[in-house]
Amino acid sequence: MFKKLSTKLIFAYVSLIICLTLIVFLLLGTLLRDTHISMIRETMAKDTSLIELKMKELGIKTPARFKKEIDLLSRIMKLRITIIKNNGLVIADSEVDDASRMDNHLYRKEISSALEDKSGYSIRYSNTLKIDMLYYAHKSSDYVIRLAQPLYEVESSLNSLKSLILNVSLIVIITSILIITLISIKFTRPINETMEFALDFTKGNYNKRILNYSEDEIGILQNSLNKMADTIVATLKEHIFEQEKLKTTIESISDGIALIDGNKSIIISNNSFLEMLSIKTTLENKQYFEVIRNRKLNSMIEQSLKKIEKSSFELQLQNERILEIILSPIQSNKSLQGILIVLHDISERKKIEQIKSDLVSNVSHELKTPIAIVKGYLETIDENLDNREMTREFISRAIDNIDRQNAIIEDIIKLSMIESSTDFQNQIIDIRNIVENCIEILSPKIQQKGITVKAKFKKSDSFSISGNQFLAEEIFFNLIDNALNYNKENGTINISGEVLEDKMVFKVKDSGIGIPEESIDRIFERFYRVNKGRSRTSGGTGLGLSIVKHAVMVQQWNISVKSGCSGTTFTIITGK
Ligand SMILES: Nc1ncnc2c1ncn2[C@@H]1O[C@H](COP(=O)(O)OP(=O)(O)O)[C@@H](O)[C@H]1O
Ligand SMILES: [Mg+2]
Repeated sequence: MFKKLSTKLIFAYVSLIICLTLIVFLLLGTLLRDTHISMIRETMAKDTSLIELKMKELGIKTPARFKKEIDLLSRIMKLRITIIKNNGLVIADSEVDDASRMDNHLYRKEISSALEDKSGYSIRYSNTLKIDMLYYAHKSSDYVIRLAQPLYEVESSLNSLKSLILNVSLIVIITSILIITLISIKFTRPINETMEFALDFTKGNYNKRILNYSEDEIGILQNSLNKMADTIVATLKEHIFEQEKLKTTIESISDGIALIDGNKSIIISNNSFLEMLSIKTTLENKQYFEVIRNRKLNSMIEQSLKKIEKSSFELQLQNERILEIILSPIQSNKSLQGILIVLHDISERKKIEQIKSDLVSNVSHELKTPIAIVKGYLETIDENLDNREMTREFISRAIDNIDRQNAIIEDIIKLSMIESSTDFQNQIIDIRNIVENCIEILSPKIQQKGITVKAKFKKSDSFSISGNQFLAEEIFFNLIDNALNYNKENGTINISGEVLEDKMVFKVKDSGIGIPEESIDRIFERFYRVNKGRSRTSGGTGLGLSIVKHAVMVQQWNISVKSGCSGTTFTIITGK
């Protein structure tokens, strides 16, 4: 009912005081009434003895004489006096003139007691006087003398006593409420402060402490609570620091990492994990299968949880990335606590492995083929030495193949030199000049193919940049050469240069056959050609764009390619 401790205390004390006052009130009232009545009774006993004595002295026998005497005595004693025969008939009554008309009094309580034990009394309510009356009866030899006295004196003194007790009680109650309120406030204040502190602490206000503490038990409790709070805060800080350390460490790892607990909820994960599995929502405290949408991975996690054994496997994702996944169960006391998932992106490694194996087979193929062809020609010549025309023809073809092989070997050497050498000095080179030289060198081919080449360089701009002459020549020669080789008849080539704030942008745009979308990412690989036959007839080695890519990388430039059915554009961005 009452929530506050102080209210409870006040309520208990006030109830106690009210109860005590009531008990005192009732006990004292009854006690006083009883004492008063017994005092009146004693007086009445003396009075009856006196009356008896008087009656005997006078030797009264007749009712008239009784009446006369008791009227006189009644006036003196201020009591009602009744004389009753032993059979209950009233002989005389000081208040009633004709006693013979009165009821038989034999069964009145005080009369019957007096007949039995010499004296008796009773208290009855008098309808005539509307008040309690005390009746006292004493048995004389032939009759019973009964005295009656109204109790209004007793009642009035009792009433004044009651009002006194009531007033005193009220004063006591009010004073005690005040005192108890003050005491309970004094007592409950530190308890309230302690409670407020505890509530604030649970809400996360860890800096608050209890300031107002005494040296009693509550003070000791408050002191201990403050110390406890200090310890909790220190431990919490340490815990947060440890967590931050763990979080930072996990985030700094490029591998995807996640920890699943025994209830299959993800409790820790890093950004790489989300990125690798293309997860857009937050993972923490969700069940792993709610967020990981890869069936194979989920079934492997399920198996690992069941079998409690480490497993690793490769997983190809829809976006072509290949992940190496390691699932390590974490155990404590032989029960499974969770599973650590590590995702390692091996797409690049796989790609390099593929390129390497392709390269080995490509190099051997590219080098072997011309030799086999030349051998074939030489064997045919050997068998047909007399046929001069055929011999001349085959010798010329063998020379072509040896030239081709020579070109391949030269490009391989050039590429490995660019790849391995670090001493490509930077000079001031003029890209406009380099482009013009390349066009000059390639002009017989341009004319032969009927291609229109336009170089658009704003006259007022300078295209002198810091770079390496040899590498820049390789880049633009190969790009313009390709634009010629893979162009359509009577096609066009537009070469442009643009000076921007902190960089220069060069474009080689052709109106050629274009590059299929699936091949765009591969054209910079060694020996990769979209169409082998076309590349070979145009004298390509399949190494041109690899040389371009490395030459660009060495100078920290950038190259990009866009291609469609209307042609291809290579864009080179250089520094100034
Ligand atoms: N401008 C271009 N238009 C269309 N295809 C091109 C272009 N440039 C390069 N390619 C494609 O890229 C392949 C690789 O080019 P490159 O390394 O120079 O070797 P190649 O010796 O075959 O020219 C070519 O075989 C060709 O299929
Ligand atoms: Mg080429």
